[in-house]
Amino acid sequence: MDNTLKSLREYARSRYIPVMSEEASTLLYETVSALQPRNILEIGTAIGYSGIVMLTASKQARLNTVEMNEDVANVARENFCRFGVSERVNIFLGDARELVRQLTGRYDFIFMDGPKGQYETFFPYMTDLLVAGGTLFCDNVLYKGLVEHIPENKRHKHITVARNMRAFLDDITSDPRYRTVLHRVGDGVTVSTKLY
Ligand SMILES: C[S@@+](CC[C@H](N)C(=O)[O-])C[C@H]1O[C@@H](n2cnc3c(N)ncnc32)[C@H](O)[C@@H]1O
Repeated sequence: MDNTLKSLREYARSRYIPVMSEEASTLLYETVSALQPRNILEIGTAIGYSGIVMLTASKQARLNTVEMNEDVANVARENFCRFGVSERVNIFLGDARELVRQLTGRYDFIFMDGPKGQYETFFPYMTDLLVAGGTLFCDNVLYKGLVEHIPENKRHKHITVARNMRAFLDDITSDPRYRTVLHRVGDGVTVSTKLY
């Protein structure tokens, strides 16, 4: 990671904009570098940090990325230009809960990092969009540690998200179409290869 990517992290942190952890972004960079995907889908653009990580790691790749917050999407657009990757990116502005139903095309790498309570709902759509041999990379799958231990006194919203995430983890790890590795970095990452 170079200093300029660090400056994007600083920008996000100073404005309370969530971006993936440094450890998870290193894993993302290494995974994309090794696989060299050509067509990447991302759910959750934020300011474009993870998109730039992926496009830096795979120089031939094109990225379609979904974001519903127009303000951060505008910052992402500027950042994609600054890093010289804007010609390889389309930002789909809208609610992923609707857009995932409309997405078409075939992707060899999908990064799911949007609404944390929706991974399980999105999973079948991601599976349809992913080619055999493709990779589904998901951040925050341990959701602040709550997925493995749901305490009584947490706010309802967090419990619901943790339960949904638990259901997603159960689904993807038991799905015979996928081989999944859970990485205990950052907030938890799964890297799943679609076998067929
Ligand atoms: C964790 S941030 C993404 C961080 C980014 N992938 C990175 O590491 O640079 C999650 C993003 O998903 C967006 N988001 C949340 N719910 C969404 C939805 N229903 N549809 C589209 N985007 C959504 C948020 O606005 C936020 O920018």
